[in-house]
Amino acid sequence: MPAEATGSHAASESVGTTGTTTRDHDAILVGEDVIRRFGGLTAVDVDRVEVKRGLITALIGPNGAGKTTFFNVLTGFDQPDSGSWSFNGRSLKGMPPYKVARLGMVRTFQLTKVLAKLSVIENMRLGATGQRGESMLSAVFPTLWRSQEKINTERADTLLQRFNLDAKREDFAGSLSGGQRKLLEMARALMVDPDLIMLDEPMAGVNPALKQSLLGHVKGLRDEGRTVLFVEHDMDMVRDISDWVIVMAQGKIVAQGPPLEVMANPKVIDAYLGAHHDSDLSVEEEEARLEKVRERLQAKTGPRDREDGDPRE
Ligand SMILES: Nc1ncnc2c1ncn2[C@@H]1O[C@H](COP(=O)(O)OP(=O)(O)OP(=O)(O)O)[C@@H](O)[C@H]1O
Ligand SMILES: [Mg+2]
Repeated sequence: MPAEATGSHAASESVGTTGTTTRDHDAILVGEDVIRRFGGLTAVDVDRVEVKRGLITALIGPNGAGKTTFFNVLTGFDQPDSGSWSFNGRSLKGMPPYKVARLGMVRTFQLTKVLAKLSVIENMRLGATGQRGESMLSAVFPTLWRSQEKINTERADTLLQRFNLDAKREDFAGSLSGGQRKLLEMARALMVDPDLIMLDEPMAGVNPALKQSLLGHVKGLRDEGRTVLFVEHDMDMVRDISDWVIVMAQGKIVAQGPPLEVMANPKVIDAYLGAHHDSDLSVEEEEARLEKVRERLQAKTGPRDREDGDPRE
């Protein structure tokens, strides 16, 4: 693997949208030699990855690159074949998701996992399960449990207000629009007051108006000192808000750097084209695809109107 395709953030310095350089930030999450295979397919094969504290890092790559699988492994929803990874210097190997969340690392899902038949506020309360052991507390210390529940409800209401979902408090989560569900997932993830929040395609299926609001919320997370790692196909969003971009293709990290630099990197364009290399392309097809990828990676216009559609191709 080429030198610039690997290594830590410290290997290359950039001034992110925070105005600080990546050198000013230590790694909150480190993964090493993480491999996840499904039968004969190696979905994830990452030598080393570092996510810098206090920054917004985008994880991009073509469909099937292994981004979601990598998220699943890092957050304890899936087990790798081998490898190690640590959060705030603590190994997470073998740790179930609720314990990972309790340590301050939470994720949202590509396909939202709000519970449709529960109300919005009930979904929020469930987000607090990374905190004290509710079932044991309710049995042994009902008073303490009730006070914890009151704190949780207050926190939930504050978050619902912040995400403009307070009017929906008592509605079934199933009645929310796709974008509102994404907001609810983000709000729910914040119930555990995480240091690191990992968002898997937060913009997918979100209408343009809500997109702007979501962008603001993601920046807001960084402004209050949290670290954000997000998977996204929307390059406008990646360019707008990321301090650092990591590119995955066929399970491996093939490039990383500041957004504009990464998007101009021929290896990144190759990675996107490479997703289609299973059949020979005519010259015209190749040109057309190259043009499309260039547009995706380099468009300097505002967010595209991709309402309620799948942003992927
Ligand atoms: N449970 C599974 N069993 C078998 N193969 C899987 C499983 N989960 C993922 N894969 C395969 O692993 C590869 C990586 O998938 P993954 O969902 O991680 O990609 P991704 O980068 O998130 O893609 P997308 O951008 O489409 O969400 C794909 O080839 C996928 O088909
Ligand atoms: Mg995915």
